[in-house]
Amino acid sequence: MPPVRLAALQTAPEFGAVADNLARIEALLAGARADLLVLPELATTGYCFRDRAEVLALAEPYPEGPALRRLAALSRALDGLLVAGFAERDGTRTYNAAAVFDRGEPRGCYRKVHLFGFERELFEPGDRGFFVVPGRGLRVGPLVCFDWFFPEAARTLALRGADVLAHPSNLVLPGWAQQAMRVRGLENRVFTVTANRFGAEARPPRPALRFTGMSQVTDPGGRALAEAPAQAEALLAVDVDVEEARRKTLPSGNEVFAERRPETYEWATRPAAAVPPGPSGT
Ligand code: ACM
Repeated sequence: MPPVRLAALQTAPEFGAVADNLARIEALLAGARADLLVLPELATTGYCFRDRAEVLALAEPYPEGPALRRLAALSRALDGLLVAGFAERDGTRTYNAAAVFDRGEPRGCYRKVHLFGFERELFEPGDRGFFVVPGRGLRVGPLVCFDWFFPEAARTLALRGADVLAHPSNLVLPGWAQQAMRVRGLENRVFTVTANRFGAEARPPRPALRFTGMSQVTDPGGRALAEAPAQAEALLAVDVDVEEARRKTLPSGNEVFAERRPETYEWATRPAAAVPPGPSGT
């Protein structure tokens, strides 16, 4: 199978400046080609919304909003899949979402399942679960930012056949998520593409936030194939053999998925309070 190109764009959106943010993304991607390109979380709007009214003013219905049409055109120009974080409006409801386009065609809209901090005041939690999008010889599993903290999310996508986790982000905890995503890739034997933003936002009453950059592409062995600096624009692109993500056998001979023991993992489907204590009562 020919190599596939995985790419991430790291930007610093200015809050509310949707047209300018899009123009910067378009300029940075001029002439680029990728089978999969990932943009940051809320890449067109910025992050620190003060309230739902602000979200509603900038949010768009998928796939028809004006910013989304420009993102669709970008995926056509890239000749590949694009996964881009944006604020989604569905009637009066708002979601922190990731739009997926394949060469201009809408292929799904992932709604962030695990909302972080004040996002819970602004968005509904994702109500569609996790899904995998096939295209360009790849099976792509979208996640958004804080979903990294819940290994069940990456595992669900990998069990559904994802070769690569596409991870639009606005990360603020220094370095942890980048390291954790290498582990998510390792434990599931998949590639990961984290497109993080950098820069800062200070919009009271929200806390002043500094975003950590350091976008990365990692392989099924947990190694970083490309890494961006902490505070600069960057376009990462790596050609990979997707078959590596389809081999779930470790050098030890262990089969990562076949040797799972779901019957011992009842905690995975029960709320924490329902998990019985261990024999020692702890
Ligand atoms: C985050 O989920 N934006 C930290």
